[in-house]
Parts: sequence; C-alpha cells; structure tokens
Amino acid sequence: MQYKIRYIGDPVLRKPTTDVGTFDDTFRRFIKDMTDVMYVEDGIGLAAPQIGFSKSVVIVDVSELVKGEGLRIFVNPKIYSTSGESVVEEGCLSIPGVREKVTRPDTIRMTYQDETGAEFDEEFDGWPARVLQHEVDHLNGILFVDHISPLKRQLLISKEMIPAKY
Ligand code: NI
Repeated sequence: MQYKIRYIGDPVLRKPTTDVGTFDDTFRRFIKDMTDVMYVEDGIGLAAPQIGFSKSVVIVDVSELVKGEGLRIFVNPKIYSTSGESVVEEGCLSIPGVREKVTRPDTIRMTYQDETGAEFDEEFDGWPARVLQHEVDHLNGILFVDHISPLKRQLLISKEMIPAKY
C-alpha cells in the first residue's frame, strides 16, 4: 500500500484542502487506496489529508455501529446547516491512543459529490452525522482535540499523548 497515516504534528493535517474537480479513473483509484488504508487501520472514517493528500475527500463506514450502513464516499462535502447537540467520545487514526468527549450538532445537512461527480444534498443524523463532522473538520485543518477544553488539552500534552505544537 502506497499511502500511510499521517499523525498529529504533521503540517498536512493543518492545511485546508482544495476541492476535487476531476473525476477520472486516477481519482477513483485514489479512493480505492484510501478505502484500503481505512479498513487496514480499522477506522470508521478517513479524510484525504490523513494520508497526505490535501483534497476534499472523505470516506465513512459506520457499519460496525449502525446496521445497514456500508462504505460511503463524500467528495467536496459542504455542511450548510446543523441542529441539535450531542456529546460523544471521539478518537482519530491520526491521534492514536486519545479518546475524548466532543460536543457537536447531532443533525447536519450537507451537499457533496460522489466518485463520479454526481451531486447530492442529504441530511444525516446519529453516527453518520458525527463521523462526517469529524472528517469534514479534517478537510479544514481542524482536529477533534481542538474541540476539547484547554485544560484537557494541556493534560494530553503533559502526558505526551499529543505534541506541544500540533
Ligand atoms: Ni480523525
């Protein structure tokens, strides 16, 4: 496998991504590679910057949490409205060993494209909404530890679970 997970501290995780404009076989091959990485790493979501590719691509598979779900591909996702609130413990393949409770809206509406460029507008709630918000954050250079209290973050730094500069 050509791609490897990038970890917290890697500048690519802080770089805002650009939209995908070309939906060709090379792009679809990239998505296949990305999918392989997510399954090998046992993740339920992955954003392209996490494998060093600064483009707006997210994949999600919450089938271990929600019956009937499977692999979903979201290209150029844009969350344009949210409602509700929930607190859920999150983790991230780019921040191994760290799990913290994060407050986020529990329902989102989002536009996105699929791997062929077809456009969609869809509402999500529950686990898909939670994972999508975490992954779309990655596209904007935001990590879930940015959402926790400064005190908790300081504790993670002092335990060397995240670097002081990340
Ligand atoms: Ni993550």
